[in-house]
Amino acid sequence: MTSPQEAAVAALRGADHVVVTTGAGMSRESGIPTFRDTLTGFWANYSAADYATEAAFRRDPARVFGWYAWRRRLALAAVPHAGYHALLALEGLVGRLDVVTQNVDGLHRRVGSQRVIELHGSLDRFSCLDARHPADAAQVPMPEVDGPYAPPPCRVCGSPLRPDVVWFGEMLPERATADAWDLAAACDVMLVVGTSGLVHPAAQLPHIARDAGATVIEINPDETELTPIAHVVLPGRAAEVLPSLVDSLQRATGNGQRGGEEGRG
Ligand code: OAD
Repeated sequence: MTSPQEAAVAALRGADHVVVTTGAGMSRESGIPTFRDTLTGFWANYSAADYATEAAFRRDPARVFGWYAWRRRLALAAVPHAGYHALLALEGLVGRLDVVTQNVDGLHRRVGSQRVIELHGSLDRFSCLDARHPADAAQVPMPEVDGPYAPPPCRVCGSPLRPDVVWFGEMLPERATADAWDLAAACDVMLVVGTSGLVHPAAQLPHIARDAGATVIEINPDETELTPIAHVVLPGRAAEVLPSLVDSLQRATGNGQRGGEEGRG
């Protein structure tokens, strides 16, 4: 009997192109709560559904901006866990690896992953509400305490600055989305890590990969909307399952880089 881990290793061994799609669960063990976690502290009673909209920002910019400042502080304080490093190591074991993340915390970039698409934007970037003029993050000081915080004005037009993240009801960035869809259709293996599969259109990526013939491997401690379409399910947490998987792959491939294919296409 082949175990799920063995099946995953076999799929990765034969893969030239791996796409990893990640959601909030990927960052949980780095100290950033998911959207379904029970929170404590000042923002305990406020959820993304309440705040991640343009209407909420126009109604109460200080409250929404303060909520995002809190999330940005969490992200800046977070240290990428062993699962992030495992994905970095996986880059050296397959022909090409792309990360497509719904997370806005920047941890994949910070750990050094080479090809990262941030589908929902980034807490590290800002633009103004009305004209989307980009603004330097250095222009946006971090508040000392949690709570409402008035957004600074755009230096070009005076409109309040907002985080460059995708709010509910907004389109995903066009180029990033097109690239992510192409990658999903072209990969041999898709790893789906720490996402509930409830938020569209990102939740479509594993379906696209599967329909195009890729092996879909899910890593999540819980069953999700995507579990039924996964070929292999590795139940567990990203910080444990990913290092164990990549370790097994390294042992199966004799610990080395891919012979003669170190360059990424
Ligand atoms: P969710 O918060 O919906 O789901 C988190 C998933 O991570 C769940 O399936 C958990 O079971 C799983 N999980 C929890 N701990 C984990 C761990 N240690 N390792 C692996 N998995 C774990 O997050 P997303 O699916 O990313 O959108 O949600 C996507 C979007 O919903 C966000 O990008 C945001 C939000 O509303 C926008 O802001 C547009």
